[in-house]
Amino acid sequence: MLNVPINCKRTVKSTGDQMTEQPSNRGSRRVSTSDDIEVGTYLEIAQADRTTGSKPPVDDRMQTVVIMDFGSQYSRLIARRIRELNTYCEILPHDAGSEILETQDVIGIILSGGPNSVYESGAPMAPSWVYEAGVPLLGICYGMQLIAHQLGGTVEPGTQREYGHAVIHKDGQDNVLFEGLDTEVPVWMSHGDRIEELPPGFRAMAYSENSPIAVMGDDKGTCFGIQFHPEVAHTPQGVEILRNFISGVCKGSGDWTPANFVSDAIDRIKERVGEGKVICALSGGVDSTVVAALIHKAIGDRLTCIFVDNGLMRKGEADRVQNVFASQLGVNLVFVDGTERFLRALKGVSDPEIKRKTIGQEFIEIFEEVAADIGEVDYLAQGTLYPDVIESVSADSNASHKIKTHHNVGGLPEHMNLKLVEPLRYLFKDEVRQAGIELGLSSQSVNRQPFPGPGLAIRIMGDVNYEKLEILRNVDWIVIDEIKADGLYEKLWQSFAVLTNTQTVGVMGDQRTYQYVVAIRAVTSADAMTADWARLPYETLGRISSRIVNEVAEVNRVVLDITSKPPGTIEWE
Ligand code: XMP
Repeated sequence: MLNVPINCKRTVKSTGDQMTEQPSNRGSRRVSTSDDIEVGTYLEIAQADRTTGSKPPVDDRMQTVVIMDFGSQYSRLIARRIRELNTYCEILPHDAGSEILETQDVIGIILSGGPNSVYESGAPMAPSWVYEAGVPLLGICYGMQLIAHQLGGTVEPGTQREYGHAVIHKDGQDNVLFEGLDTEVPVWMSHGDRIEELPPGFRAMAYSENSPIAVMGDDKGTCFGIQFHPEVAHTPQGVEILRNFISGVCKGSGDWTPANFVSDAIDRIKERVGEGKVICALSGGVDSTVVAALIHKAIGDRLTCIFVDNGLMRKGEADRVQNVFASQLGVNLVFVDGTERFLRALKGVSDPEIKRKTIGQEFIEIFEEVAADIGEVDYLAQGTLYPDVIESVSADSNASHKIKTHHNVGGLPEHMNLKLVEPLRYLFKDEVRQAGIELGLSSQSVNRQPFPGPGLAIRIMGDVNYEKLEILRNVDWIVIDEIKADGLYEKLWQSFAVLTNTQTVGVMGDQRTYQYVVAIRAVTSADAMTADWARLPYETLGRISSRIVNEVAEVNRVVLDITSKPPGTIEWE
């Protein structure tokens, strides 16, 4: 069933299985969205109704904190904080069953905040197993009120809403949750209800101006409620409080380290894949790079990676991917140069969504053809991250919903008869980067700015052709070069150039010119949902501008995009 696209040049490389890329000590940048969205999403759809998924880490050595989600906007943040304390945690819907107690070593349960009032009819309650599990419990805000309400106390509307900064005052008694903290602790509050009567066996441990019971704990020292949010940055000692809960109350050993989660992931890959064969689509982004490195470490030559060069990448990118994977990591790599095929499909297409759809369709066609050519394969590797998993669980979203949110309105591919292996399914983005470093990947590979799947095609306004791509590649190279030279690359969420569809008059020597305008876009962001335009130093901008007009003949004007998101988007198309 070999069907190699006539315009695709392909090479297969396989060298030993040593990882020779040098590790780096540079710190990871905290991000939370996948930059391999395009590849991941298409392949996910390909598998939509075949997903057997990977089961949660069944590793009885792994200590786990369970976060029951009652709808707080901060639940994910709680999880991030716990992971930063080197403790594995999972977010479960508030009405989840107790199965996790069977599969993992649950050392503590946190009940999150939420928008409801516990006394309202229909308000979500914690299931009884949470109280009966015999593990330490921490209720945060709504979670605290729930504990009070469900264990026999009283919660009532407060006379005043308490929102924003507050100070809590500890009582005189020793309290493991507040060990090492001052008597007065600045915190962040966000609640309207308050506890009027404690449940039997509990005592108040701290008060604030508007909450006579801002902290409560039981006599056994295993169940606590806090009215404030320790997970937000506005509670400066919040991490200490969470640390006290994890290590002092739950007796967590802090075993969720990069070395451990890499070895855990490798064990799980081996367990899942057995003697099977795996294929993995590479995008050049962090997620697929780490997925491939992990799987390669687990099963060696039974992994084949496929890299489709769509011709819409940055300068040198396709070579870099080949170099890292085939030469340095020694991974079996099928490299497909699909440039001509993609450009032919994109000819005359100027609508951004049709561009995306065209690129997506072309990608999946090539991928399927190459996969068929590889022979018998059992598994498809994917870089699904934990935030994607949480999103799909909590929002009950499906693959088509995800496509919309990530702009990938591509055509749906044919189904492929493969099972999934998703070794990053339980990791946050910063953990993926740490895993990459642990695996010996360079900082250059793991600390890359996100790059959209449709690549430069959505940074060229209007139709795309080879000449425009070359112009933009040259301009983009200068932008990144200067941004890196000034030490700004890892501080920015994204920084790039856009080739506008506009030409303007200029003057060069004695000649008038009529050339392209390019725009510089640099943004800071935490998750790409919102973004601010970066205040780049004038000196950096000056160097970028003069190098572009001097080194790229087709450009005679450089402008700066100073729009935040919203109302603008990060990309121009
Ligand atoms: P916008 O432009 O919507 O972008 O503010 C938010 C983030 O998503 C990236 N992006 C894409 N990624 N396929 C992708 O894989 C796409 O079609 C796509 N469009 C935007 C963008 O680079 C930014 O990080």
